[in-house]
Order: sequence, then structure tokens, then C-alpha cells
Amino acid sequence: MCGIVGYIGPRNCVPIILEGLRRLEYRGYDSAGIALVKDGVFRVEKKAGKVADLVNHLNQFNGSLSAQLGMGHTRWATHGEPNDVNAHPHCDGEARIAIIHNGIIENYASIKTKLTREGHTFKSATDTEVLAHLIGEMYKRTNDICSAVRLALAEVQGTYGLVVIALNEPDKIIAARRGSPLIIGVGDGENFVASDAAAIVDHTRHVIYLEDGEVAEITASGLRTMTIDDEQIEKEIEEVTFELSQIERGGYDHFMLKEIHEQPDTIMNAMRGRLQVEEGNVVLGGLRDVHDKLMNARRIIITACGTSWHAGLVGEYLFEEVARIPTEVEYASEFRYRNPVITKDDVVFLISQSGETADTLAAGREAKAKGATVLGIVNVVGSSIARESSGGVYVHAGPEIGVASTKAFTSQLTVLSLITLMLARSRNTIDKTHAQVLAREMYAIPEKVKYVLENTTDQIKEIAEEFKRVQNFLYLGRGANFPVALEGALKLKEISYIHAEGYPAAEMKHGPIALIDENMPVVFVVPKDGIYEKVMSNLQEVKARRGRIIAIANEDDTEIDKLADFVVRVPRTYGYFGPIVNIIPLQLLSYYMAVARETNVDQPRNLAKSVTVE
Ligand code: AGP
Repeated sequence: MCGIVGYIGPRNCVPIILEGLRRLEYRGYDSAGIALVKDGVFRVEKKAGKVADLVNHLNQFNGSLSAQLGMGHTRWATHGEPNDVNAHPHCDGEARIAIIHNGIIENYASIKTKLTREGHTFKSATDTEVLAHLIGEMYKRTNDICSAVRLALAEVQGTYGLVVIALNEPDKIIAARRGSPLIIGVGDGENFVASDAAAIVDHTRHVIYLEDGEVAEITASGLRTMTIDDEQIEKEIEEVTFELSQIERGGYDHFMLKEIHEQPDTIMNAMRGRLQVEEGNVVLGGLRDVHDKLMNARRIIITACGTSWHAGLVGEYLFEEVARIPTEVEYASEFRYRNPVITKDDVVFLISQSGETADTLAAGREAKAKGATVLGIVNVVGSSIARESSGGVYVHAGPEIGVASTKAFTSQLTVLSLITLMLARSRNTIDKTHAQVLAREMYAIPEKVKYVLENTTDQIKEIAEEFKRVQNFLYLGRGANFPVALEGALKLKEISYIHAEGYPAAEMKHGPIALIDENMPVVFVVPKDGIYEKVMSNLQEVKARRGRIIAIANEDDTEIDKLADFVVRVPRTYGYFGPIVNIIPLQLLSYYMAVARETNVDQPRNLAKSVTVE
């Protein structure tokens, strides 16, 4: 996902744009650029690399760069490798307009062929430059940039969060959205456009969320919003709620570590105002209008990607075991293309931190088209998945800046636990006394997470130092801790670049056991639950083959030391809430392994915070 910032108003836009890009760099970061209009002159500067590289490049102008209209972009490449030429902004052939774009123009090849036949030549390998030339062509016809953008977009297939400025119309910015988020920041005598409120919250908390198919013509003093077909539409101004301090690192070395340590608070925030401990009940306003659909659901389907998919796997155990509702979990990228059998009696939950993951968004649209009730479990307020769902529950984890998801995951698990308790009470699969026990268990989780953070960090740092040079890891767990093993393995992979595989513990003997020797460390998630003895047998099998064992085990476990080389102890928690606590040591392990290997913890290579392309 790319970062977009635009400004129009009386102030010099250059520092505003560069600071905004810096706050968005986590969204996509292989190149960055800026475009300005000043006294009838376009200025476009762009560089491969980080925003800092662009700033260094601009410093050569000794602060002479100044304009009241401009826009900037950080890029995560989808078409064309990361380099200066492919960086945004891109201009039309006559350099009369400049655009920045987040998304994919799916029919860009056919448009490029047509334009090439008409004599256009292109400098870059990007789909965005083709769009710039198409808008330029329309601009020749209309001599009005807003109309030119609308006419061009009528020919485009694919997704865009798009911002356009024109040399001959220095009093306006055009913004358009389909499939990639765009917001307008409404200031006092100045206006902003951005892909994320974090970029502009320094300047205004009043925002307008553009919806798919909407276009905005923005001036310093106001704005007009319309559809691509030029139907005028009214938009309401909303308030951004999170504090800027939530975004800054807060004294930690990395955003990821800050976010790991925020989890006692963020887990509590997910429960706040929703969990009624004494009554053993849960109130979720976002599901009120679909309560009957949930009560009568024939089946629940959970679909997501990556870490959010792992959360869904835990949700399956919760929904089936406690609420007794048949539940399936699907990779969104598979679900969207396999023509699934969906009926109006199905409820589909989309789990997504960003709320912008293209595969998950598309899976939801597929399910909605087939008549299912589609609900969102989302972190980013006002995101596409949240807006397109018929209801849902925000996880309230606050902005998650580290590319590797941590606090969003445990908040997703918390929300799934809340939904489980609500459904179980409504469907009478548990009585009030049992529900009160579960509610108290849930309410105690934040303190248990805090305890783990305070009492295992030093030990985990030592384990990371011991294993920082290994090339492979195996993570094993059973039941609801199998998804914990998957998530622990994913964390290690994505930030330390060590290959790690998560597996159901019992499945190891069906093949992966061939990998076990003294060079293959094995992490076991082995709480004292109903299948503890079974997992202990799996530890025996590893031990017998000289595998080195790191165990995440309960404090009162007196057997584990006989088998495990390293034991990280966590408090006992009711079975299906256990993953929220058991994942914490694995988050810390991946973090300290990455630090020991000196990788880029917050912005790992090849990754973006939100994958808004297929
Ligand atoms: C998580 O650590 C990864 N960065 C990635 O797997 C992520 O969970 C996935 O892309 C889904 O993102 P979403 O939750 O924003 O939809």
C-alpha cells in the first residue's frame, strides 16, 4: 500500500507533505516523490529509497522549494521495479498534469497500446504513468482537470486512490477513490488529502472519507464531491479520534516492541464497554442490527489473510466449542476465486487489521453477492472492509505501525472471544454461571499478558542470542495453540528472515520429523490443557532425535523441564483464551531474534503493512 499526501492552501506545502510522508512510510516504502505547482511551473522530484533519501535529494535546493499546491507519495512497487523513474508522481506527455496513485490499473496494457498508437511515449514501466497520459488526453478535450479525471476513470478497470494536480489550474486538487483508501482533511482556509489520517492529524482532525466511485475537487476554501458520472453528492465531516502520540514510538527502539508492550492496554480496550463481567454477558453495538442473522446462522465462515487468518483459526475453535456454531476458516485469496457455495443463511466474518487487504475485501464482496451476511472484525476505523460490511466489531488496537502484526492479533482474538461469549449466551449453549466464569477469565487476561511481558523478556533475549544463527525453526502446537504455532512461525519469518514452519504437533510424525536433528530447534506451545500429555509425547519424539526444544509452558508444570532445553513460563488461562497469552513470548522471540540479526524490524524487506493489491 502506498502513502499519499496532498495540500492546497496559503502555507508552503513542502514541509507539510514531507512530514506527512514520513508518518506514512510504513505503508509502502521503496521510493518517494513530490510534485509542486508554483508560478506556472511544475516541479517534480522523486527518488528510489526511503523518504529520507528524497529529503536529502531536495536539500540540494537549499530550501528554495516552496509552493501552495503540492502532493507527495511513498511507493510499494506493483508494476515496475523500485527506481527513480518508476517512482511517483507521474506526468502526462505534455507535463500539464501530475498524478500519484495507490492501487493497480488492471487494463493499463490495453490503454498503453492504444495511447502508443496515438503517438504517446512512456518513460516508466508503471501502470500509473499510463493513467497520467490517459488523463492528459482527456484534459486536451475538456480543458477542465476534474472532468478529465472523471472521463479517464470511466475507462479504467482496477483500483486507485488517486490525486491529480494541473499546471493551468493551480487552485485545486482532484482526488478519486476506488478500492484504495483516501481521506480529505478539512482545514481552516486550507485542505489536505491523504491515504491515512496519520499523515494530516497534525493539522486537522476533521476528515471526509471518500467512498469507492467518488471524486472530489478540492480548493483551499472548500470542496465539491461527485460520482464519476458527475452526480453531485453530499459528504459528512467526521472526527479523527486517535492521538498523534499513539503514532510516535514512545521511547521504544521499534514500533513493533512498543506495540507488543501496548497489548495489556489494547486487549483491555477491545473489551471496554463490551464485556459485562458480573452478568457474564457481552454487548456489541456493531452486531445489534444483525443479531438475528447471527442467531439463525447455518454456518459461520471466517476469511482473512496472514496473521488475521491465524486469528480466524482460533475463532473456529471458539465458535464451535463454546457457541456450537459450525465454522469454517478460509484464506481470502483462495475463497474469492473458488466460487464457494454460499447461502443467505451464512454469516461471513472478514478479519483485517488494515481493513484494506485486497483479497479480504474481494472475498467479502463475493460472499455479499451470494447473499451472505458479511461482518467485519477490523482495526482501522472507516476502512473499506469496515464500510462495506453490514456490521462488525472494531478491535480498537490503535494505529499499528510495525509491519509485523502483534497487538492487532491479540485484539482480534479478544473480539472473537467476546463474540463467542455473546453468541453462546444468546444461543444458550452455556449457562449464566459458566458465562460468568469465562467473563472473569477474559477480564484477567490483560494482567496475565503484562506479567509475561515483565517476567520473560530477559530470558527470551538470551534464547534469541543462542539461536540467532540457525536457518530453520519448527513451531508445534495442538488445538487452539496450533494457530499460535503458525503465528509464531510467521512472526519469525517476516522480521528475522529465518525459515520457520508452524505445524499441528501430532502431524510432525507424518513427515516433518525427518527434519529433526541437533540443528533444528523446535518451539512447542504446551499449556497444561486437555491434550497436554499428547503434546508431551511429541516432545519425547523430538528429544529422542536430539532436537533442541523451546517450550512455552505453564508456571505449575513440573514435568516440562525434563524434556525442554528452554522453558518460558506463562500463567494458565482457560483453554480457548490461552492463545492470547501464549503468543506473547513468541512475539518477543521473533522481535529479539530480528534485533540480534540486525534486520529492519519495523519495515522488513519485501513487506508492506497492508497488501492492497492481489
Ligand atoms: C502480519 O504480520 C503480516 N504483516 C500480514 O500477514 C498481515 O497479517 C496480512 O497481510 C493481513 O493484513 P490485514 O490484517 O491488514 O488484512
